[in-house]
Amino acid sequence: MSNFNNGQLEIVYEMDEAVLADSERFALAADEKAALLSRKQMDFTGWVGYADAFPEGELADILATADEISSRCKYFIVIGIGGSYLGAKAALSFMDGDGSRPEVLFAGFNLSGAYHADLIDRIKDDDVCLLIISKSGGTLEPSVAFQALKNLLIQKYGRAEALSRIYAITDRDSGKLRKEATENGYKTFVLPSDIGGRFSVLTPVGLLPLAVAGIDIRTMLDGAKAANTEEMISIAKKLACVRTALEEQKCVQAICSFEPSTEDFTAWLLQLFGESEGKDGRGVLPVGVSVSRDLHSLGQFLQDGKQMFYEMVLFAKEPARDITIEGEDAGDYAGRSYSEFNRAVLEGMAKAHRSVGVPIIRAYFPDNSAHSFGQLVYFFELCCALTGLLMGVNPFDQPGVEAYKRGMLDYLLK
Ligand code: PA5
Repeated sequence: MSNFNNGQLEIVYEMDEAVLADSERFALAADEKAALLSRKQMDFTGWVGYADAFPEGELADILATADEISSRCKYFIVIGIGGSYLGAKAALSFMDGDGSRPEVLFAGFNLSGAYHADLIDRIKDDDVCLLIISKSGGTLEPSVAFQALKNLLIQKYGRAEALSRIYAITDRDSGKLRKEATENGYKTFVLPSDIGGRFSVLTPVGLLPLAVAGIDIRTMLDGAKAANTEEMISIAKKLACVRTALEEQKCVQAICSFEPSTEDFTAWLLQLFGESEGKDGRGVLPVGVSVSRDLHSLGQFLQDGKQMFYEMVLFAKEPARDITIEGEDAGDYAGRSYSEFNRAVLEGMAKAHRSVGVPIIRAYFPDNSAHSFGQLVYFFELCCALTGLLMGVNPFDQPGVEAYKRGMLDYLLK
């Protein structure tokens, strides 16, 4: 991609000048909100700059524990839902782990018996360790999966060894899981009480599973630090202003992924934006679009349907891998690479959608490295928090999610 000039995340706007000009009315407020965040003068802002001063002792403990886990199992099952698993899942799709390390699998993010029965069939004859992640310690989906998998381990290894294969991440003091971990002697890490689940990727919640998979978590934290510079914060502020201006006109944000490796990152973004911004009757509904696949289905709507959305494109400057088409039958395709074709679909889509007035934001990230992942995570966390604050909502709570959890428990207790 010859027209990219550095290794940083870049944001490019394609929309009417009037929208960009209009977004400037939020600029002063964005400065104030960014200062508020950096002073951590709000609840749940512990994630701000967390990577910059990550406790070295804790990092060493995470790495040593990951090595121990790696030597003990073939499958490492991470049990959690929402912010307790989406970040690690996104990272593992975004970049390759070390093939000699355990395979990280996920449980407890649905209540499907079929999913969990299949998972148990897959792992039951091999060595397994479990990581249960729950900040509250009582969320139903992970609690049910934990009981099913813990029981499998007890039957397989006997109680003492089974309990030694269980790791937990939860609040320092409160909740059912903390109590159980203390009683059963699980090795635990703490999710700091001032960091919410969806802002927790760069804490043990994301770092331990990724270290087990052999991802270079120090480099990932360096990437996050690289997104916490004055230059990147000002890019995040501008994006927050534009998104806030667009929120007044549009009710859907289509996040367009051009590689399967960013589809789970899109799922993480859906949670980040949806759960942080969608409240008090405000926000845009984030939806994921997988390109090219969905251009042959949703593409019709995007081009021709009700104009209620804007697009956010995720595009790698350097693809993780590439293939050049060759062979005597290749015709016009000969000598052209997948990355060239993928660029063509981006430009073709942008041209077509701009012709009907769709606002487009392009997020060009450098590559699929741990550094880029850390940078993307911190950048979007900041941008999302700022957008929520500019819209006047609290980006750090999730009363709607709590409502469904209560409804589910009411049903079970009937
Ligand atoms: O972002 C959040 O706080 C939520 O999505 C939580 O991560 C999710 O509800 C899981 O909660 P818990 O970690 O308490 O089990």
